[in-house]
Amino acid sequence: SAAEKGGYDWFMLKEIHEQPQAIADTLLGRIGTDGRLQLDEMRLSDGELREVDKIIVIACGTSYYAGMVAKYAIEHWTRIPCEVELASEFRYRDPILDHTTLVVSISQSGETMDTLMAIRYAREQRARVLSICNTNGSTIPRESDAVIYTHAGPEIAVASTKGFLSQVVACYLLALYFAQVKGAKYGDEIQLILDELGRTPQAVQQVLDNADQIRKLADRLSSNRSIMFLGRHVGYPVALEGALKLKELAYVHAEGFAAGELKHGPIAVIEDGVPVFVVVPPRARDQLQEKIVSNIQEVRARGARTIALVEEGDDTVVPYSDEVIRLPRVPTLLQPLVATVPLQLFACELATQLGHDVDQPRNLAKSVTVE
Ligand code: G6P
Repeated sequence: SAAEKGGYDWFMLKEIHEQPQAIADTLLGRIGTDGRLQLDEMRLSDGELREVDKIIVIACGTSYYAGMVAKYAIEHWTRIPCEVELASEFRYRDPILDHTTLVVSISQSGETMDTLMAIRYAREQRARVLSICNTNGSTIPRESDAVIYTHAGPEIAVASTKGFLSQVVACYLLALYFAQVKGAKYGDEIQLILDELGRTPQAVQQVLDNADQIRKLADRLSSNRSIMFLGRHVGYPVALEGALKLKELAYVHAEGFAAGELKHGPIAVIEDGVPVFVVVPPRARDQLQEKIVSNIQEVRARGARTIALVEEGDDTVVPYSDEVIRLPRVPTLLQPLVATVPLQLFACELATQLGHDVDQPRNLAKSVTVE
């Protein structure tokens, strides 16, 4: 009913708007007054964590993209090598695991069969398993050595939104906790990031307040049958997630690319009128930004309609963009938390305009309990 949906047309839209709260609740009680992190359900001792020499993140779907984002943060703050792998591929490739490997599973539902089978396999190989999960007492956390719950609240729409943002936050808490346990060399940076994380609910709210712009954009682009997304660094998984959402909800052909790969193939499919969303790295990353600016020029020269997601106050890409979506200024590693939101809204609005059932897209299930 409309009441259940909090006055929104869809559970998905309600859940998109619950994201500031989901982030705040996932942070709640985990940062002590002394600025030190405390993860209550972390059942692995500091000694066990110090032994870890490799981290493998496994997940499916949108949760996998949260894992791709997490890799940047984990390696940066912990200096522990980190791989990210699709749960459905993991145990079929004879992965190298032992008791010093930490497998981090990410699952909103805690019931995804591919992910469950992957963690069972990991434990058989004596790896330790820590799960990031949104569902208390579900199978995956029950079968794990440790758990970090995201506190996003129940997610009902098939397409994950607040689940994703709270997973990214939980992964960052894990990375920062690790860094703390290891005696971080990034002490000041960790403090700064924790402060910035505390401010992300307001930053996400600021993006949501701009929902009208996205609705109008979806209206203008609703007849396009193919839409591209480009990003670099943490903007790359954001591009993949933007494309996945469009496929899931609007049944539109959509692809996300690492912008640097454009010249190695994808640019061939750019033709007149194709919308290309570009997640522009913050200005602080000037080398990345410079490269993405030339990517925007390249696709535009081939007739693409460019839609730039770029931090406020940065006008570098404005001359080459048909549409500019402004993002609040946040550190680069936190950019996915704000940049994903307009793409979620876009997919939701486009699917609505095409007359699709946003909460129950065809052929998809909220939780896939078969391999
Ligand atoms: C299904 C859902 C996706 C979700 C994926 C992983 O495919 O349709 O939205 O991202 O499962 O789900 P999980 O619960 O493991 O995060």
